[in-house]
Amino acid sequence: MSQPTIESVLQEKRLFHPPEAFSQSAHIKSMADYQALYDKAAADPQAFWAELAEQELHWFKKWDQVLDWQPPFAKWFVGGKLNISYNCLDRHLTTWRRNKAALIWEGEPGDSRTLTYAQLHREVCQMANVIKSLGVKKGDRVGLYMPMVPEAAIAMLACARIGAPHTVVFGGFSAEALKDRLNDATAKLVITADGGFRKDKTIPLKAAVDAAIANNSVPSVENVLVVQRTQQTVHMEPGRDHWWHERQVEASADCPAEEMDAEDMLFILYTSGTTGKPKGVVHTTGGYNLYTHMTLKWAFDIKDTDVYWCTADVGWITGHSYIVYGPLSNGATSLMYEGVPRPSNPGCFWDVVEKYGVNIFYTAPTAIRAFIKMGDDIPKARDLSSLRLLGTVGEPINPEAWMWYHSVIGGGKCPIVDTWWQTETGGFMLTPLPGATPTKPGSATKPFPGILADVVDLEGNPVGTNEGGYLVIQHPWPSMMRTVYGDDDRFRRTYWEHIPPKDGQYVYFAGDGARKDEDGYFWVMGRVDDVINVSGHRLGTMEVESALVSHPAVAEAAVVGRKDEIKGEDIFAFVTLEGTYNPSDELKNELKQHVVAEIGAIARPGEIRFADALPKTRSGKIIRRFLRNLASGEDLVGDASTMEDQSVLDKLREG
Ligand code: WTA
Repeated sequence: MSQPTIESVLQEKRLFHPPEAFSQSAHIKSMADYQALYDKAAADPQAFWAELAEQELHWFKKWDQVLDWQPPFAKWFVGGKLNISYNCLDRHLTTWRRNKAALIWEGEPGDSRTLTYAQLHREVCQMANVIKSLGVKKGDRVGLYMPMVPEAAIAMLACARIGAPHTVVFGGFSAEALKDRLNDATAKLVITADGGFRKDKTIPLKAAVDAAIANNSVPSVENVLVVQRTQQTVHMEPGRDHWWHERQVEASADCPAEEMDAEDMLFILYTSGTTGKPKGVVHTTGGYNLYTHMTLKWAFDIKDTDVYWCTADVGWITGHSYIVYGPLSNGATSLMYEGVPRPSNPGCFWDVVEKYGVNIFYTAPTAIRAFIKMGDDIPKARDLSSLRLLGTVGEPINPEAWMWYHSVIGGGKCPIVDTWWQTETGGFMLTPLPGATPTKPGSATKPFPGILADVVDLEGNPVGTNEGGYLVIQHPWPSMMRTVYGDDDRFRRTYWEHIPPKDGQYVYFAGDGARKDEDGYFWVMGRVDDVINVSGHRLGTMEVESALVSHPAVAEAAVVGRKDEIKGEDIFAFVTLEGTYNPSDELKNELKQHVVAEIGAIARPGEIRFADALPKTRSGKIIRRFLRNLASGEDLVGDASTMEDQSVLDKLREG
């Protein structure tokens, strides 16, 4: 029986080969090398991962069993003992890396700090001892609510060192959101700061913690450790609240890393942005350490000579895996930046690249589109010649944004790694290996070695070449989430039951639509709930958006479905314009024609609305459910507290 699939209409044919000089010095140098690794891993995934775990990580005790798979529950490196903070710190201290920069940090106001591996190790040990002195034991959860300062990474590593799982709550979330997460995790300690700098203002983090835990509303929290950042006035509750800088001077720098079981919980991270109670995604120690280590090494081709910068916040999985754990496990130099582009300094990212000679730069499509809108002059006024590799993550990248990133930021010489993955997957799943994989703008290309991915229909049957379907992973991988914290049932329902197991083989349902092209390249089309059904054709919103963005007048576009009596759903497009264009009815018609020309009449937007900005979560994802409400003239449904800028909605309503 044929199953409904998702119609794919984006046809992007440009191909970019890795520059030869890049390939020659890369860890993985050719498609033949990639294929050999891929085949070896596919033939025997357990042997593949075991060999790498032995080579790349330090173990106090080797595992007894590589994989224990009781679907949907996986255990990796069963019986093995290690500590990720040891792998990120201690093991480098006996090498020349001891005095290498581990973290380079730049604050928003322009202050900066560099911590060598030896310095970072010292501070992590001190903080670990302070955390212990506040009654936290192995297995107790610690909530982190921090600005982008080195102490955020220090606190994560300190928790890992003593075996206390951390749960980092993004500093932009409200007190209410913080309260829910701390309660779900029953955190014993909260580590925060007085405040943080954001867009030339200070954000009151400590006050938000006070509000979150006021009136015993989070009964598990016993103490609050406060890092001084902004020096704004804060209330310090005697007996409960403690200054880090006061405790640090008394703290011993001797704190051996706890021997953790490979399957001991490393952290909980709550996924955000959609409806319902946030899910506490659980990651454990051994598999996560190995997988983030390997993916950063091969997909970002990390070298000891690199300055590597990921612009994410540590509050997201990208910050966990690819600012802190992956880079430090590799002994790399990881740059942390507190600021974001803002009216007073739209070129701040490029200033940082120039100042530190950044070699590898990793950001999100939403940021890239914002840079395009600000104009080429800003990056062109800076020296970006140190860059050798670029990365992107978070949503499908529109081919035109990819091209801009490639030419204006990368100077035409830097491979782009478009990494598809999720909080749940822990690390990159689909990604080019930059010395090997020829890239196509908008495609995350191929699975990382050891990942068996496919595109299937709702019965689990593979769809044909270039047919849309559901992206699934067919074999467990080391950094897969282990469960939803405290809710195994929800874990099973959300990820393992949409597509029934075939012949006893369970598949992981990622919730994204995708297609595979004639070269086996994956094209992720966005969340499956972002699919619009127009006259029985199911269109990925992202492809219509990409068509709009390829018009010179369009900076950013978000497309949603609106009920239509005849077509089922009609396409409603919200569009922001490039600086030099003005809204007009003529332009609306031109854009509709443009989409028709790019994709076909089926995708002609029924309505286009011009906007100054689009509603986004603080992690930069467009909140489509609000746009859907606006498009159909309904009241807004759901919680707006995760929104970056509340005033955006009011403007959109005025239309
Ligand atoms: C989307 C972020 C297309 C996707 C690491 C996924 C992407 C969700 C890409 C996970 C990409 C992330 N191309 N889509 N390169 N990267 N996504 O949990 O819909 O914040 O399911 O993890 O972002 O978002 P999360």
